[in-house]
Amino acid sequence: VTTTAGRHRAWLDIDHGALAANVATLRGLAAPGTELIAVVKANAYGHGAVEVSETLTALGAERLAVATVSEAAELRSAGQDGPLLVLWGIGTEDAPAVAGLGLEPMVDNAAVVGALAAAAAQDGRRIGVHLKVDTGLGRQGIEPGEAVALARQIAGSSDLALAGTMTHLAAPDDASLTALQLERMASVLDDLRASGIDPGLVHVAGTGAVLAGVGAFADAIRPGIGLYGLAPVGHTIAGIDLRPVLTLRALPLRVFEVDPGTPIGYGMRWTAARQSRLATLPIGYGDGWPRSHLNNGWALVRGQRVPMVGAISMDGLVVDISDAGSVGLDDEFVLIGRQGDESITADEVAAQRQTINYEVTTMLRGRLPRRHHRP
Ligand SMILES: Cc1ncc(COP(=O)(O)O)c(C=O)c1O
Repeated sequence: VTTTAGRHRAWLDIDHGALAANVATLRGLAAPGTELIAVVKANAYGHGAVEVSETLTALGAERLAVATVSEAAELRSAGQDGPLLVLWGIGTEDAPAVAGLGLEPMVDNAAVVGALAAAAAQDGRRIGVHLKVDTGLGRQGIEPGEAVALARQIAGSSDLALAGTMTHLAAPDDASLTALQLERMASVLDDLRASGIDPGLVHVAGTGAVLAGVGAFADAIRPGIGLYGLAPVGHTIAGIDLRPVLTLRALPLRVFEVDPGTPIGYGMRWTAARQSRLATLPIGYGDGWPRSHLNNGWALVRGQRVPMVGAISMDGLVVDISDAGSVGLDDEFVLIGRQGDESITADEVAAQRQTINYEVTTMLRGRLPRRHHRP
């Protein structure tokens, strides 16, 4: 159990059994022998990077991937000493830390490659880098036509090794764009090999691509959201065993009755239309439950749906439990997850906020304790 100090009656339950099942499912969708690069950036999409990484490593994930050097440093401090990929671009000033921590950074430009070579020489230890090619996402990566020259710079340095070559897909549910991106990637790989350069571990597929069957293209898959039991929009997972890992729960701080006409919360954005029974839950936008749930959200209690009423505060919100029976201070509420026969999915919550499930889990703040349940 990881807790912040003090009593906080809203928390996340993290089901490591579900995480293990999802790893097996994703591996099963890739070709036999395909390696797993498990994406644990942004605090493992809100699930708790240190604990989730421990389970993933124990399950045999060949590599972990984070976005930033500071995320990597946190995992190194927690004892993760295996291959650790940094997916987002680093600056030249990060090179000494990358060398010191023994990380594998994504690279897409000569300046950073030069800085890494210098830092590796200084440190006396080789840095393995992953060359990223922009095959169509238009975000990070080197242009396909310039990839061989950068790979030559890497391969020509005795302080660097080309650990991998990667790209990222823009819309894995779009077969024609994906085919085009894969074609560009294949052509870069051909060019590298024709130049006598070993591209190292080739990896392309995040969760959407794995679900779309692209996992077979490369040596490793690189899923994030699927590990956590969720799928990107546009991908059906009917018949695929992905199990949500996270449940968001809270206990009420106050259960109270109000008369008809009583306004509730900041700005009086909800007024009781009848004699009402309400409960205050200690979770608000300071925990990552945003104000867009103003009169627009649900919780489960006693296996029933109850609506959120009024504005969301920084530290709390109010639900109308008038129709939920005799709810007391010991009754657990579920904001994301299952209770009895009812469930509220991260996808449903995302739709209420006009966002995607990634954002729903990732924005759950560190203030919420994570309770880790291992089988
Ligand atoms: C480069 C890269 N690879 C893999 C992933 C994981 O993607 P997903 O969470 O869709 O599986 C991400 C996530 O943003 C990414 O940026």
